[in-house]
Amino acid sequence: MFEALPAQGVPGDQILAELRELRAADLPTHGGRLFAYVYDPALDGLDELARAAYAISAHVNGLDPTAFPSLLAMENAVVGAAAGLLGGDDGTVGSVTSGGTESLILAVKAARDSRPELLTPRLAIPATAHAAFAKAAHYLRVALDVVPVGTDLRADPAAMAAAIGPDTVLVAASAPSYAHGVVDPIAEIAAAAAERGVRFHVDACFGGWVLPYLRRLGADLPAFDFSVPGVTSISVDLHKYAYAPKGVSVLLHRDEALRLPQYFAYAGWPGYTMINPIISSTRSGGPIAAALATLRHIGDAGYLDLAARTREAVSVLADAVRETDGVRLFAPPETSVVCLASEGVDLFVLADELAARGWHTQPQMSYAEMPATIHLTVTAAVASTAADFGPDLAAAVAAARAAGPAGIPAPLLEAAAVLTPEMVTPELIAGLAEGLGLGSGDFTRMAAVNSLLDVAPPALREALLTGFLSMLQRPPTRPVPVPAPAPSGAFFGHPLHRRGSAGSPPPVAE
Ligand SMILES: Cc1ncc(COP(=O)(O)O)c(C=O)c1O
Repeated sequence: MFEALPAQGVPGDQILAELRELRAADLPTHGGRLFAYVYDPALDGLDELARAAYAISAHVNGLDPTAFPSLLAMENAVVGAAAGLLGGDDGTVGSVTSGGTESLILAVKAARDSRPELLTPRLAIPATAHAAFAKAAHYLRVALDVVPVGTDLRADPAAMAAAIGPDTVLVAASAPSYAHGVVDPIAEIAAAAAERGVRFHVDACFGGWVLPYLRRLGADLPAFDFSVPGVTSISVDLHKYAYAPKGVSVLLHRDEALRLPQYFAYAGWPGYTMINPIISSTRSGGPIAAALATLRHIGDAGYLDLAARTREAVSVLADAVRETDGVRLFAPPETSVVCLASEGVDLFVLADELAARGWHTQPQMSYAEMPATIHLTVTAAVASTAADFGPDLAAAVAAARAAGPAGIPAPLLEAAAVLTPEMVTPELIAGLAEGLGLGSGDFTRMAAVNSLLDVAPPALREALLTGFLSMLQRPPTRPVPVPAPAPSGAFFGHPLHRRGSAGSPPPVAE
């Protein structure tokens, strides 16, 4: 029984025990075997420190920094650190946001509102740019120009330049891209944007806190920050490679004039005048305090060491892929991502087999000419597990080969072949979920589901997953057993393997 509002209050110890029990059903956030969602430096004591810092500022409200100067001081310090790391100077300003998506939405908003005369402002991105740009364009009613990338998976500077028109308010590229971990040719695109007087945003949400250190360690990576003329804004998530708890990203602008249209101000009501640099108004100081504590505790030398460990882990994993028949590297492992494709084995069955051996990877569906791939976000914690990956990958490939392609029930295939997004109803979703064996809440073997989603055209996939998520996100009509069935998986871009996967290490208590 897990009631959010019991008739009578429940003792604290009991509640914490219940929460721990719920958490036991989650993928392991520590231990170096989960290659998405979480960023683990494997540093003793860091979680405890961040938690304590969070608690100190949890009830501070970012709505008014004059009321809570502690938050203003922390934000300015964090923005200053990000600017220092990313080639900023005395003119660089920024904001702390809740995450990468919010930073990107605000970069697009600032660019859009700097050109209020345009009827249809436009945003130009390479096809590999993060989906959050599409979300920003959708929310802000900015037209999206998606430019195909080259065979090297990088933005094509000439094609990007050609996509810049008179209504383009912002050009963006990635350093690096999430899906493949490759760095776009930032200098060339920046030059093309600057020549046309257009803002250029570098999305370093994913890698902005590790790339500078990889470069210092000698990695052959181009400059991607404010040292590049024409870069007008950069986003970097502290809840990724700065290893801070979730809820903190930084959006930097080269100067204050560029940032100004990011603000929203409203005095036309009888209450307080609202001045917000970011999307939320009231917000907790907890995440910022935790991020500041994390940065100060790890320090510059600590991040260099973590980047060295990450680099070593990437190299071990990439070698394992190179040495295993049946898989190949799909992208050069030049940053902190290993992305692999399969040859002669079903990729989604392989992902299941890896999960069965305790390696939680992220299947990525096929896109345009690109095949489905498996994505590994590699963090410092993987340095201690990477050596075990190769033998398990070989065993997983052998098992996937023996198993053959995931069987999709024939009636489902027939139904899917005639489906259009408009036909997707809650009833159809419930039927599909049942037919695919998801009704029981057992998400350990997802190859069939993933295969079906992979062949669905993007609009249908979006409709199916929206319907599925909506089905899951309903208040319980009766007491929910603990642990509750939870969404997972390639449904949302995740591995769909969890509870009870043979070989999974027990979740590490946090
Ligand atoms: C390159 C890039 N940009 C933006 C985002 C969005 O970040 P968030 O999930 O924090 O909103 C991500 C997340 O993985 C990313 O990798």
